[in-house]
Amino acid sequence: MRLTILGGGGFRVPLVHQALLVDREPGRVTDLVLYDLDPARLAAIGNVLVRQEAGVADPPKITITTDLGEALLGADFVFSAIRVGGLEGRVTDEQVALEAGVLGQETVGAGGIAYGLRTVPVALDIARRVAELAPEAWLINFTNPAGMVTEAMSPYLGDRVIGICDSPVGLGRRVARALGVDPEAAWFDYAGLNHLGWLRGVRVGGSDHLPRLLDDPEALVSFEEGKLFGADWLRTLGAIPNEYLYYYYFTREAVAAARDAPKSRGAVLTEQQRRFYRAAWREPESALDAWESARIEREATYGAESREAAGAGSRDPYDLTSGGYEKVALALMRAIAHNERTTLILNVRNHTTLSILDSDAVVEVPCVVDAAGPRPVVIEQLPDYAQALVCGVKAVERAVIEAATHGSRTAAVKALAIHPLIDSVTVARRILDGYLAKIPQLAYLRP
Ligand code: G6P
Ligand code: MN
Repeated sequence: MRLTILGGGGFRVPLVHQALLVDREPGRVTDLVLYDLDPARLAAIGNVLVRQEAGVADPPKITITTDLGEALLGADFVFSAIRVGGLEGRVTDEQVALEAGVLGQETVGAGGIAYGLRTVPVALDIARRVAELAPEAWLINFTNPAGMVTEAMSPYLGDRVIGICDSPVGLGRRVARALGVDPEAAWFDYAGLNHLGWLRGVRVGGSDHLPRLLDDPEALVSFEEGKLFGADWLRTLGAIPNEYLYYYYFTREAVAAARDAPKSRGAVLTEQQRRFYRAAWREPESALDAWESARIEREATYGAESREAAGAGSRDPYDLTSGGYEKVALALMRAIAHNERTTLILNVRNHTTLSILDSDAVVEVPCVVDAAGPRPVVIEQLPDYAQALVCGVKAVERAVIEAATHGSRTAAVKALAIHPLIDSVTVARRILDGYLAKIPQLAYLRP
């Protein structure tokens, strides 16, 4: 089986490769194709992968290419994990928004809109090429903003494009642990959009265990989301929100924390990754060690601003080792390729799952997956407080897709101005001008 990774020089590629090396089942991935625009990043990651496979029997054959057509031909699965504009782009997304007094987070608010405006045109190109060159392939999209990007690609790929994120799995695992139940045996009633979802129930053997957690203030603050949101707020909601909801429920605190931080997340990572790529490229023998220490540092500092603002302390060591990203991707690929029926929380077209959204809207919900692909499972409708946010943010995503599809600056202003975290049309216009001045990839937006 042939797997192609777009963004093959990306930092998280060794996580996927490691998981492939562990898979000894028949029908496993035998060919791994890494596609990237940047040969130096490919070479550095290639050095890490060579060290990972040392001593492993029959590792996947690795092909490295900067030619998209070559990368896609013959692919059974395509992982898309690209970062248009690189981490430097992420820094600009953060800065311009913060200067205007609003949040500039990677996927949420103005930052997420800027990132989407740069990424969607590239994602559309990829979707067209996949439809043409590998029409039978499944495209598993990690590229952020994942929900928006998956929806943008779906007119070309239908239900063959599936968005994934590690945050719902992480949430489920933490909540299961706080409850003392086996996450593998639990059914997580989770719904919303990517980075905008709520866990409303944890069913094991026919009964819902979440109320038990909501009634236990101590257990409730024993894990990441409990520390971020506080027991009272979780009890008020009667659900556990995705960690990204922190930006909506504690907007002022999040903006203040970002303003007060000595460096933005993007700036921290830009430096860290520059160091890592240089070292891995120049010193192949120590590439794997360099990657491992950079990974641990990245994981340990993930979400630091929100945790700091909420007084949540440092990350639980358990969260640093349990793996997320690569596990969901591999589980999804296996379920489809081997027809092993399983349930995963994925970003797929709504069909009739959430009644407040139309059938083409990409939502993040539990899906039953087998060789026929994922099918969203009928679940409870969203609670009242979630409905407005979900509909509002979906409208933002669609305005971004419209801007990207038609090169419309008007639609880009609309996306910013209707976002719940941007409180003035004037500010929205100013932010777009700031992005246009600093982001070359936005030149396609016509006045
Ligand atoms: C989580 C999210 C991803 C996001 C990442 C950012 O894993 O689910 O969508 O890209 O965090 O992590 P970073 O280390 O880049 O801040
Ligand atoms: Mn995510």
